[in-house]
Amino acid sequence: MRMVDLIHKKRLGEGLTDQEITHIVSGYTNGDIPDYQMSALLMAIFFNGMTSEEISALTLAMAGSGEMIDLSAIAGIKVDKHSTGGVGDKISLIVGPIVASLGVPVAKMSGRGLGHTGGTVDKLESIPGFQIELTNEAFIEAVNTNKIAIVGQSGNLAPADKKMYALRDVTATVDSIPLIASSIMSKKIASGADAIVLDVKIGSGAFMKTVDDARVLARTMVDIGKKLNRNTIAMITDMEQPLGREIGNANEIRESIDVLRGTGDKELTEVAISVAAYMSVLGKVFESFEEAQEAVRDIIAKGKALDTFRRFVASQGGDPNVVDQPDLLPTAAYHFEVLAEQEGYVNQIDAEHIGIAAMLLGAGRAKKEDQIDYAVGLTLNKKIGDSVKKRESICTIHANREEVKEVSAMILDAYRIKSTKPAPVQLIYDVIV
Ligand code: URA
Repeated sequence: MRMVDLIHKKRLGEGLTDQEITHIVSGYTNGDIPDYQMSALLMAIFFNGMTSEEISALTLAMAGSGEMIDLSAIAGIKVDKHSTGGVGDKISLIVGPIVASLGVPVAKMSGRGLGHTGGTVDKLESIPGFQIELTNEAFIEAVNTNKIAIVGQSGNLAPADKKMYALRDVTATVDSIPLIASSIMSKKIASGADAIVLDVKIGSGAFMKTVDDARVLARTMVDIGKKLNRNTIAMITDMEQPLGREIGNANEIRESIDVLRGTGDKELTEVAISVAAYMSVLGKVFESFEEAQEAVRDIIAKGKALDTFRRFVASQGGDPNVVDQPDLLPTAAYHFEVLAEQEGYVNQIDAEHIGIAAMLLGAGRAKKEDQIDYAVGLTLNKKIGDSVKKRESICTIHANREEVKEVSAMILDAYRIKSTKPAPVQLIYDVIV
């Protein structure tokens, strides 16, 4: 099989066979196929797309290019959850303990943050002592004992995707639906999920900018899941503004604890309840979404989800006292208020700009090697629809330096304050099953 012929075939818009796709993925992973040929193929895929058969074959080939985690020693349906990335997205930290309390085993591998989006494992590492690296045996034992463990993604999970993603990044081929869908699903399949709830974000801080594009991506991933016998649901949720009010690491842990206590941000709580309810339905703990939603509210109200969070933190070496003494989490030395320059209503908060502002403070990474400062971040005091007076604080900056002019300007730029009140924000646009 010559790569040049396969590129030619795809350039003509013809479908590649399972065997051809496996050959390409293994050849590229082991270095037999050079970057320049893979780049040409990716561009041909970008323009000509792939059939659902090709997308499933690509997903399986990428999943099988490295370690395939075997979670069969954990009883029950292992339901994973994946978000396509957002700002202030701490949903995994909240839904994990909730569904574990309801009996759904959570064996989750999460990534680190890069650029304007944060990562779950970075947030967890802001808890003093928390270990995100466990051996596979310790990981499985933690889930069997506490129903929940969250660890960093193994270095050898879907290496073909890692290499292809890096190449896509420099060849303008990231935003191709077959390539995004297979990239995300390959990692879910390799990490051992039996069922998957996908949270596809749309808006200023997301890959997908419109509901229609998000629907196509969601449908593509749900179809891959079905073809590969993983029951999959995709929710399309809002990322026109950051999720919740805290953006950073330790402060996002504090906000997640508030939601688990039942005193958190209303919108964040509503999205988390829906995601947890769908996970419980896929985990076959409940038959209907409505029944699951009610049980989720109840488990929060009874304090059981917060108890599970305490146990989960302690089992991975973290200090569970952070739940009742949030000051035990890293705290920034300086706090600055960003004041509104005019009065009116908040109409828009550019999530990507807010994510970049947090990154500039040190809460995120511009490059993979950057160190994170867990204490710094932002608190959004005003969200879309809120009224604002001139010189009222719209955002608090938590910094470990005295000079935050650039960050402050970026936040002011992200907020659009107008004299008219905007329509209420829709939190969930659609659910694809
Ligand atoms: N996230 C992924 O894991 N892969 C993509 O291609 C895009 C977003």
